[in-house]
Formats: sequence, structure tokens, C-alpha cells
Amino acid sequence: MKPASPSLGNLFLSTALCLVGVTGFGAETLKTVVPFSMGVGISDQIFERPQDWPLLTSQFSYVTPENSMKPAAIQAQPGAWSFAVPDHFVEFARAHDLKVVGHCLVWAKDDRTPSWFSKEGDQPASRELLLERMKAHIESVVGRYRGKIAMWDVVNEALDDGAGYLRDSCWSRACGEEFIAKAFAYAHAADPEAMLIYNDYNNELEGKRQSMIRLIESLRAQKIPLHAIGLQGHYELDSVPFEALEKTLQAMRAMKMKVVISELDIDVIPRGRWWADNGAEREALSKHNPYAQGCPPEILQRQAAQYAQLFRLFNKYSDTIARVSFWNLHDGQSWLNDFPWKRDNHPLLFDRNGVPKPAYHEVMRVFQP
Ligand code: GLA
Repeated sequence: MKPASPSLGNLFLSTALCLVGVTGFGAETLKTVVPFSMGVGISDQIFERPQDWPLLTSQFSYVTPENSMKPAAIQAQPGAWSFAVPDHFVEFARAHDLKVVGHCLVWAKDDRTPSWFSKEGDQPASRELLLERMKAHIESVVGRYRGKIAMWDVVNEALDDGAGYLRDSCWSRACGEEFIAKAFAYAHAADPEAMLIYNDYNNELEGKRQSMIRLIESLRAQKIPLHAIGLQGHYELDSVPFEALEKTLQAMRAMKMKVVISELDIDVIPRGRWWADNGAEREALSKHNPYAQGCPPEILQRQAAQYAQLFRLFNKYSDTIARVSFWNLHDGQSWLNDFPWKRDNHPLLFDRNGVPKPAYHEVMRVFQP
């Protein structure tokens, strides 16, 4: 007997079943339902965790190396390049059909810039020397991965948290705003195809938003290739700044500036005044680990509702948002298990076993009502 030829519907069903079998998810996942690209920051542990690969590749299409391309990791000493891990990362991404976001070329904070960069003997490096070192760094790193890295966080965290314009750092002290313009120009020369991003935290909030707009206008006036703004999006439960975020998205849309949400998570453990210089308080906080045995369902529901509200907003500005990336794959791998102190955190869409949490289902419902 001649076997019946499979109908398109049957073919679709068997493909979907096959996907469920391989990944544990249906044919519809984050990356297939949202109208922008979905990405995630991942650590080097990913190479040794094949159990995480189906989750990664079924849900996301962009990956950012969490640490290995940062200036202090890639060139800790002048000319002592550490390319092994980043090379492995880029190859891993290629083999899994994932695009790479490079992170980051200049991290404009003194404690995040390798100290040799900013010194000339025991004096601060001059403007010329700093720019020369920056140029060599960017040419080497961006040039090495030319055509293999789709987007670069070119400058990270250069804006001041207070009333000032630029954060005080070896960069701003020696060069003012010029170091930002130069970093973008060097990156563009090294890979003219890459999307170049300015990345920061709290830049959706009132004061910093104004500084960011000033920076965009200034770079545009100089014809510097800035292609997108990164809003890191490290939020805390019950204080996600929805209104400020919407104002920022409106402003970016009006300026025809693309936005990426670059490092999204919603911390469920209030951070309190972790930054306060108060020994006793810090000591008490450092022992605070309320959800070591698991996150209570009502917290997970609140988190789900707030994630859904965020994605409804992103959907409304899908003409402006180019990508949304989470900062790590699942709760077990989040940096928030170690920052600001060690605790068991639950900030992402997938639990420690990679199982979708209520937040995942609520986000999916935004796009498949
Ligand atoms: C900032 C940086 C990231 C990462 C996070 C915390 O947001 O941009 O690279 O270090 O802090 O992990």
C-alpha cells in the first residue's frame, strides 16, 4: 500500500512535536513571537552546560558574553591579550546559529578600566596616550571579530548618576566627551557593518535621560556613527520605572534612535540601602537570603505581571526597539545570586532547572493573547 503523503498540517504538527521533544518547548518561543530580536547574556559556563543549550537556542537569537570581552578580561596588561575564551564564545555562537553582541570596548569607570590604561608612570595618562591606547584596543578587538560580531556595546556607563553630565573617570578627566566620539569612530572604522551601541543603567530616568539626549545630539552633530542606545534594565520588583521608560522610548522614537534593552532582569529581593556606608546594616543584609528554599508563588506572580507589563510596553515601541536581552539564561546563573551580596535569587523567566516560570507564560501571553 502506498503511504499517504503528509499534509502540510501534519508536517507542521510533527515538526512542532519534534521541537517539543528536543527543547521541551513548543514551536512558539520568545524569539518566534516577539516583534524584535531576543537575546541573553551568558557566562563561559555555557560551554560545559549542554543541558542549557536547547533552552538557549530555542528562545534566543543573540548572545552577549557576560565578562570575557570586557577590557579588564581581554587586555589585563598592555598587549597581553586573552582571546582564547572570547574566540571560543564566538565559535560557540556560530556553531549554534546565534548572533553575538560584543560587550564592551570602553567601560568608562575607573574601577572597570585596567589601571595600566590610565597611567603614564605614576602620573595620569595624557589625553593623547589614552586615546592611542583606546584606538589600539578597539582596532585589535573589533578587527579580530569583524563580520562575526553583529552589535557592539562600544561605551558602557559613561554618564553621571547625579546632576553632572559625564561620570568622573580617567576618560572624562583627560578627554571630556571626546573619548566617546573617538570610541565609536574607531569601532566603526574597524567594522563598518556592526551596530554600535551606547549602553548605560538608569538612563531611562529623568536626569540621566537628559544627559543621554545631550550625548546623542552631540554625537549626531559630529556625524559619529551611534546606532542604538542600550538601556540595561536591571530592575527591582515593585519599582520598575514604567513611566520613565515610556517617556524615554517616546523620546528615542521622536529622535529616530534605536533602543536595545540590553541586560534585563527583575530582582525579587529588595536591595535595601546596600550602598549605605553602614557596617551593621551591611552585615545584616549580607545574611539576608529569604528565598533560599524557593520563591513564594505570590512573588512569582507579581514578577510575572510586571514582566508582562514591560513587554506590553516594548511591544508598543517595537518600531524603536531592536533587541531585548536578558542578563543571563536562568535563575541559577544570574549575577544577582552574588550581587550585592550572596543569596538565592529568582530574577529571570526560567528557574534553576531551565523550567519556564509564571513570568515566561505571562510574557508569551502578551504576544499570543
Ligand atoms: C553592568 C555591566 C554588565 C555586568 C552587570 C552585572 O550592567 O554592563 O557587564 O557587569 O553590570 O553583571
